[in-house]
Amino acid sequence: MKEPLLRHVHHITDAELPAYVYDLPSLREHARSIRVALPQRVELLYAVKANSDPRLLQAVAEHVDGFEVASGGELRHVRAHLPDAAIVFGGPGKTSTELDEALSAGVQRLHVESEQELRILTTVMGHRTADVLLRVNAPVVVRQTALTMGGRPSPFGLDPSQLDRCMQIIADDGRIRLRGLHVHLASGLDARAHLALVEEVVSWADCWTRQRGVELTEINVGGGMDVDYDRPHKTFDWSAFGTGLRQILSRRPGLTLKIEPGRSVTAYCGTYVTQVLDVKFSRGEAFAVLRGGTHHLRTPAAKQHDQPFEIIPDDVWHLPWIRPEARDEPVTLVGQLCTPKDVLARRVMTTRLRVGDRVAFTMAGAYAWNISHQGFLMHPHPTFHHHDEGNQPLPYECACRTA
Ligand SMILES: Cc1ncc(COP(=O)(O)O)c(C=O)c1O
Repeated sequence: MKEPLLRHVHHITDAELPAYVYDLPSLREHARSIRVALPQRVELLYAVKANSDPRLLQAVAEHVDGFEVASGGELRHVRAHLPDAAIVFGGPGKTSTELDEALSAGVQRLHVESEQELRILTTVMGHRTADVLLRVNAPVVVRQTALTMGGRPSPFGLDPSQLDRCMQIIADDGRIRLRGLHVHLASGLDARAHLALVEEVVSWADCWTRQRGVELTEINVGGGMDVDYDRPHKTFDWSAFGTGLRQILSRRPGLTLKIEPGRSVTAYCGTYVTQVLDVKFSRGEAFAVLRGGTHHLRTPAAKQHDQPFEIIPDDVWHLPWIRPEARDEPVTLVGQLCTPKDVLARRVMTTRLRVGDRVAFTMAGAYAWNISHQGFLMHPHPTFHHHDEGNQPLPYECACRTA
């Protein structure tokens, strides 16, 4: 953890733990470096589902072209906090109310997922127009990936066989402008694998448009850029990705590519700080029970990994018995939930971990608090802190416990 952030964490009182701390300067710098690596004809949208914290949205807004939302709730949230931001609306199962809201909010693009959704759109449009990308489960092979959403039978997007019918509905309607295609097929792709997929998708789209005699000016190739929780310092190679996209675009002068990463943008800026409540040994194995758990930070349970962490020793011990500790041995870090699934990291070698020490789980800025089962067991919610340049935190500054 960098020194200014560590200082911030030291200022958080025990009573405020567990706490999420978001490092805004490093988020801004990271988003800036992503933008710089991309060619001009690539639009960068942030997938709000990864983390919709308003101050994170404001920090990335300086460096992205817009925001991808996937529900009416996300749409209203982004509009409330960033009234002028460009918004694209994707995701499966949009209701007629959400489609109506999206049109009223002036979303820049609607990503239509099915023929049914397209037909519902036509019923709510009235005199309004809509700029649409058809999301398609393109017939390409998804190789290296953690999570696939296409390239095989999938509830996401249109089967390519349905594209012609949708094109006909659009042509007959007259109020819908088809701008292009949307193809988010997988998450957990490194730059090489992602580029290979983009190349395949764009070649398939070239072929499809040539056969149909249509011209599409946009392809949104989604998010899914890899975040490696086992190797926190190995980030997605945005420079290689940008170079590859430049080459793909150089052969297609009329085309704009769009990407909508989430995890790879905000994962690194978040830290979940908590404290050891108990250290115990069970049949020879050490367990540290922490305040909080996967109902605050679901990421390791959802992705089945060990969440990376740093120990922040606290030497104060006032109780009249020997402080429980684990020394030079593997420790499993668990939370307060009554389930064996409440594991944040398994059998990780530690030199010393004592009751009262703090544990700071890094890479907790995406699909963390917002995907957690926050009500389970009714423990207090974490507090939230935003570390920003020049704000030397006073105790309780920026602290807000939700709900
Ligand atoms: C359509 C779409 N776009 C973008 C994303 C963001 O993906 P990631 O956070 O892996 O970059 C997702 C994630 O599920 C998605 O479904």
